[in-house]
Amino acid sequence: MTKLNIEVVNKSVPLSNGVAYVFGIVSVKDKMQISDSLVETSALAKVDLKALGAKTSFEHMTRLQGPDGSIYLAIGLGDEELNDEQFRQLAGAAVRNLGDFEKVVIGLPTNTSGACLAVIEGALLAHYEFNEYKSVKKTRKLNEIRVLAREVPLPAQIDEAKTVVEAINLVRDMVNTAPNDLYPEIFATLMQKSARGKGVTVEVWDEKRLTAEKCAGILSVGKGSVRPPRLVKIEYKPRGAKKHLALVGKGITFDTGGLTLKPGLGMLGMKYDMTGAATVGHAALAIAALKLNVRVTAYMCVAENMPSGTATRPSDIIKYRNGKTVEITNTDAEGRLVMADGLILASEQKPDLIIDVATLTGGARVALGVRTTGLMGVGAGINTLVEAANNSGEALWAMPLPKELRALLNSETADMVNSKLGDPTGSMLVGGHFLKEFVGYHDREKQNQIDWAHLDIAGPASNDGAPFGYTGKGASGVMLRTLVQVAKSL
Ligand code: BES
Ligand code: MG
Ligand code: ZN
Repeated sequence: MTKLNIEVVNKSVPLSNGVAYVFGIVSVKDKMQISDSLVETSALAKVDLKALGAKTSFEHMTRLQGPDGSIYLAIGLGDEELNDEQFRQLAGAAVRNLGDFEKVVIGLPTNTSGACLAVIEGALLAHYEFNEYKSVKKTRKLNEIRVLAREVPLPAQIDEAKTVVEAINLVRDMVNTAPNDLYPEIFATLMQKSARGKGVTVEVWDEKRLTAEKCAGILSVGKGSVRPPRLVKIEYKPRGAKKHLALVGKGITFDTGGLTLKPGLGMLGMKYDMTGAATVGHAALAIAALKLNVRVTAYMCVAENMPSGTATRPSDIIKYRNGKTVEITNTDAEGRLVMADGLILASEQKPDLIIDVATLTGGARVALGVRTTGLMGVGAGINTLVEAANNSGEALWAMPLPKELRALLNSETADMVNSKLGDPTGSMLVGGHFLKEFVGYHDREKQNQIDWAHLDIAGPASNDGAPFGYTGKGASGVMLRTLVQVAKSL
């Protein structure tokens, strides 16, 4: 990935040779118009943009020849009033389009410093490339962006955006890495490396420690693989912090389904099943790097789900460290098994809020598609996340945990089953119900369960379709921005 320098200027700049200039276009009463821009576009006064194929639909892009060897990129702004997230998407789309230019100037109609900051974020996010495995690397030429805006953000805000995008890109790198190169041990090593110098403590629990700590879920999922499981714990504890946020992430470095084996097509893409763990780990590190005044503990539950002679059998019963027993009826519902350990450990600390992030169910994709995160939870968990996602601009939708679905987890022999085989009813919600059983109480007698939010990112964690906005193909790094927002709001 070429390094990208971003500069913000609050005035027009002269057009120069070989530079691409981005401006927005809109339709006003069926007439195509260039929207307010600090990009100098007088050369286009007499040009019929429509006849050249320009469209004002959101993110539609048209390249035009500008004066003095410059290039214009006219980008459709759609027909709604633009919010910050849309500015983020527009800037991202422009950067993806203009990778073959070294220098790009963006002049979108931002009215606030927040919108300008969104343009910067979108540009930085879209610049990500993953070339690790290409013997011939086709990297972008783009290495310098100027954002033109009348209201510009403070340098500290731009630095913060850069820190967050760096964290997102580290998540993307880990998720995109092939599963033969990224297994539990390596996951832990990479996290330790990223944590260096950030003022956090990192603990890695190996099989021996996991056994001593009775982390039954991680052990039972991990035992089918020759690559042993890990629990990675990152703690950021700034002096004077009044609130404690606990994060739990699903870190299945590859999900074959185990003995309840997935069919070939269903297994494809399952290297992304560790996205939740990578997300909470790098979110904690970003929060530490930003020196936010909140204590954060992240638990990454990392294992490889493989079928083998040592793998967990359907019908096996495991006992968690809090005494709960689970009959494993479906070894492909492994995410909830490892997450239960993380939720128990997090609950023991009685934090103010627990957020878990997991590519938990195919049902989340069925219900919400591939761009929206499913949110479930108890107490303030729901509202805190809805608000944070409103601020970060990430798509999130609150789902219920209907009481009657809990019965689908009843077991004849143990406290619960992990999944009712063959019954896909409310799959995402049943997953939520299972996790909820492992969220502790401040005081069990008073039934005041710890505030908790569960984010099922099975849809948006990876983009298998065409690139859009600031999201390219592959890992998206979704929800990290929202987690940072939550930390800010606490
Ligand atoms: N990692 C998958 C979730 C998943 C499935 C993501 C398909 C994307 C596409 C998870 O471990 C899983 O296999 N979930 C099962 C749960 C079921 C057995 C209750 C699923 O969704 O099919
Ligand atoms: Mg599975
Ligand atoms: Zn899985």
